[in-house]
Amino acid sequence: MAAAPGRRRPLRAPLFLGVALFLGVAVAVDRSNFKTCEQSGFCRRQRSLQPGRSPYRALLESFQLGADSARLQLVNEVTKVPLLLELWGLQGNMTRIRIKELNPLRPRFEVPDVLVAEPPAERLEVSGREEGSLELALGPAGHRLLLTEKPFRMDLLQGRELLCSVNARGLLVFEHLRRRRDSFSDKVSSSVGSLWERIKSLFHRDPPTEPPAEEGAAAEGQEEAAAAADDAGDPSEKPTETPADTADEPGSWEETFKTHTDSKPNGPTSVGLDFSLPGFEHVYGIPEHADNLRLRTTEGGDPYRLYNLDVFQYELYNPMALYGSVPLLWAHSARRSLAIFWLNAAETWVDISSNTAGKTLFGKLLDYMQGGGETPQTDVRWMSESGIIDVFLLLGPSPQAVARQYGTLTGTQALPPLFSLGYHQSRWNYQDEADVAAVEQGFSEHALPCDVIWLDIEHADGKRYFTWDPTKFPQPRAMLESLAARKRKMVSIVDPHIKVDSGFRVHTELRDRGFYVKTKDGGDYEGWCWPGSAAYPDFTNPEVRDWWASMFAYDRYEGSTENLFTWNDMNEPSVFSGPEVTMHKDAIHHGGWEHRDLHNLYGLYVHMATAEGQIRRSGGKSRPFVLSRAFFAGSQRYGAVWTGDNSAEWGHLRISIPMCLSFALAGLSFCGADVGGFFKNPDVELLVRWYQAGALQPFFRAHAHLDTARREPWLFGEDTAALVGAALRLRYALLPYWYTAFYRSHRSGLPVMRPLWMEFPEDPSTFAVDDQYLIDQALLAHPVTEPGARGVQVLLPGQGEVWFDVTSYQKHVAPQTLYVPVTMSSIPLFQRGGTVVPRQDRPRRSTECMHGDPFTLYVALSPQGTAEGELFLDDGHSFGYAAGRFLHRRFRFAGGSLTASSADPRGSFSTRSWLERVVILGAGKPASVLLRPANGSESQLEFQHDAERSVLALRKPGVGIGDDWAIVLR
Ligand code: GLC
Repeated sequence: MAAAPGRRRPLRAPLFLGVALFLGVAVAVDRSNFKTCEQSGFCRRQRSLQPGRSPYRALLESFQLGADSARLQLVNEVTKVPLLLELWGLQGNMTRIRIKELNPLRPRFEVPDVLVAEPPAERLEVSGREEGSLELALGPAGHRLLLTEKPFRMDLLQGRELLCSVNARGLLVFEHLRRRRDSFSDKVSSSVGSLWERIKSLFHRDPPTEPPAEEGAAAEGQEEAAAAADDAGDPSEKPTETPADTADEPGSWEETFKTHTDSKPNGPTSVGLDFSLPGFEHVYGIPEHADNLRLRTTEGGDPYRLYNLDVFQYELYNPMALYGSVPLLWAHSARRSLAIFWLNAAETWVDISSNTAGKTLFGKLLDYMQGGGETPQTDVRWMSESGIIDVFLLLGPSPQAVARQYGTLTGTQALPPLFSLGYHQSRWNYQDEADVAAVEQGFSEHALPCDVIWLDIEHADGKRYFTWDPTKFPQPRAMLESLAARKRKMVSIVDPHIKVDSGFRVHTELRDRGFYVKTKDGGDYEGWCWPGSAAYPDFTNPEVRDWWASMFAYDRYEGSTENLFTWNDMNEPSVFSGPEVTMHKDAIHHGGWEHRDLHNLYGLYVHMATAEGQIRRSGGKSRPFVLSRAFFAGSQRYGAVWTGDNSAEWGHLRISIPMCLSFALAGLSFCGADVGGFFKNPDVELLVRWYQAGALQPFFRAHAHLDTARREPWLFGEDTAALVGAALRLRYALLPYWYTAFYRSHRSGLPVMRPLWMEFPEDPSTFAVDDQYLIDQALLAHPVTEPGARGVQVLLPGQGEVWFDVTSYQKHVAPQTLYVPVTMSSIPLFQRGGTVVPRQDRPRRSTECMHGDPFTLYVALSPQGTAEGELFLDDGHSFGYAAGRFLHRRFRFAGGSLTASSADPRGSFSTRSWLERVVILGAGKPASVLLRPANGSESQLEFQHDAERSVLALRKPGVGIGDDWAIVLR
């Protein structure tokens, strides 16, 4: 471990952490390692600008209508710098707004590789023109965009309803590129104190909250600026520099945080914009934060931060940045949903304010009774360090529509291989081949299903990824083959930091090909990470990604087989020795872009290249499985993500639900949290509850820190193993439903794990629920997340609907809040009346062993006596489904009969699976039950009816699961 001090790292932490763990002391994030808004120059600059009258004017005379877009210029009346505004009405109810500099000194970064295609646009038309304003009609949904000249603002309406106003609070900021006035700014940064004050009094004025300065004043400002530019001897500065510019504030051309200085050769480049959302009180999304699902207002605190960071021991319920970022914010009301997608990959902060924040329900009621009270409104302000403003407004109007819209822009969740929806057993570290074999055997002996065993960093030879420790893992291929023989798989970690070691082939190749990220001075960027000194492949370069993908070929990654999959960790990227534990912002990437411009994309590219490598090694046939810690918009196309280094604490178990829900809203359906908690040792109760919760979350992996006690489920005695086993078996029984849900998500863009309000959008009681959720449409989960719980309060939504307890089959009428008593074995789960859930109830060792197993259909009747559901089936691992090798079945119950038909006639797939049982919940007792196969003779089915619970169980219909048939109750 000498080369890789722990986290057990960061550097000074190991001893303290070890002692703390030993003593059971709560250790928490060292906040001083991470910037607050005040410590982040551009955030501070932008936030000091208060809402007021915008200095921007829209030059209506420059308006041009193109075939499918409109453009016009905006000008900052103080700085005189012109911007170009482009507008699109996109098909499917979306609007795109792009603002960039009209004549930038250099190109500014525009995010590549996130949008799956240039979204097709609708024809725009000018539908009105008045003095000082212009109105555009956008597409067939009746949306109109009202553009106001001075101060510039845009109002998006549907009919008479105002949906969203842009720059209504005047917070459009666009720090234009400029040349540095060397001598001047050197002076500024060398003696910040009194000199700054003097300069500020001379040059700086508070940003305009009043109407912009009269012409004379502006001219006067320009003169001052011109004089300053003259001092610097650079005539090109004259027209653009003004006192209102923030270019010369300390931190503009160089910024120091702790011991790190960011050279900022391009000076201040930030952008920002505000959006007002009348009628909306509830906003969600913008992962990753360890916070409630419903976002809070940020007044009086820090904004939510989006900057992929490796945060050691993260704290709960705060807006600090974490490992991944998706700049997608949802707004929801009982009337509609919409979302703002801010396509910018630089450090970003999001401020949220609301005119109803802090008002109690009583206060709101009082407002209402007094006939007044404002319309509720949420205001959102985005601030990014560089790039351009490129925003998509996803106008819903339903939550489903918003999810679909986002899916058309950034792609949908990749269809995971079936095994990856099973259970994963991980820890840092399984020591050697014998350890792996023993763990595998433990699962077999205790009849616990498990699909995958994971190897963390110690498996590699001195943390040289793509290699194996020669003493501990001398025969990786044999190990993988013996796992394969047991129908289990393995995942090994491949981190993006590469050990700088001239004897390490991966390093020398990367170095010799010039594939590493560079420092500002042109050398290879090196930082400290697990292997000691490490360099970072420039994944933003397509050639590097291609090279990296080629590394997963079986002959390049020696010892690997098709049974080995990948875990990409530390890809924020994590640099222990870097500012905020990440890469210096002035490091240089392919194309000359600064790391600052694309920081939040780095992890996505690592994930992309690795998934590509796995596809390639199979000759394009097999679907990859890659878990990534860092992510950005679009990462859903490459695999799974998880919530990083949580702790064995009840709060961390609890927050795994809203965290994964906010990932899901941002398109990332394949989300999980380390089951059991990464840091610290869970007690038995917490461990069992975590297994029960994890079994109902999309990515289901137990994982633990190197310093924790071993916690394979059987180590806690037979009772615990039995409780964990029951949770695992529930997971496996429901795999057909999970797999179908993932297929549906892959096709539609709708999340697998859903907040209640997605399915019950008009019911305000669902808007702030954090402790329960839906799996697709049919199952409602409310895992137990409190210690010593004797019961849980479950909100069963839906006027006139019914829900069935999955364990007891008991029917409950909705809406109601149901008190459900619990014991240690309880996993509160409800099936919605009106749905059909397919299961494979036979306990097996792994998903592969379930191949060909028979199915049971659980038909939960609605009060109207109807139900509907689907089943997707294919080989579970190839891309064959994309070429029609699949079955997509639909089951419908109505008028007393259950029918099976194809949901998608394009697919065909032969399977030996058959229908073993049908359980109908909420059914009366029939006189007889007839089975009518599509091509066969009618027969009677045996059945049992439980009158007390209204449960009808039909025995052995015996039809093929891909066949058409009807079952008629008489
Ligand atoms: C990071 C990961 C953790 C892993 C460890 C060692 O902390 O988040 O899951 O075990 O690195 O690789």
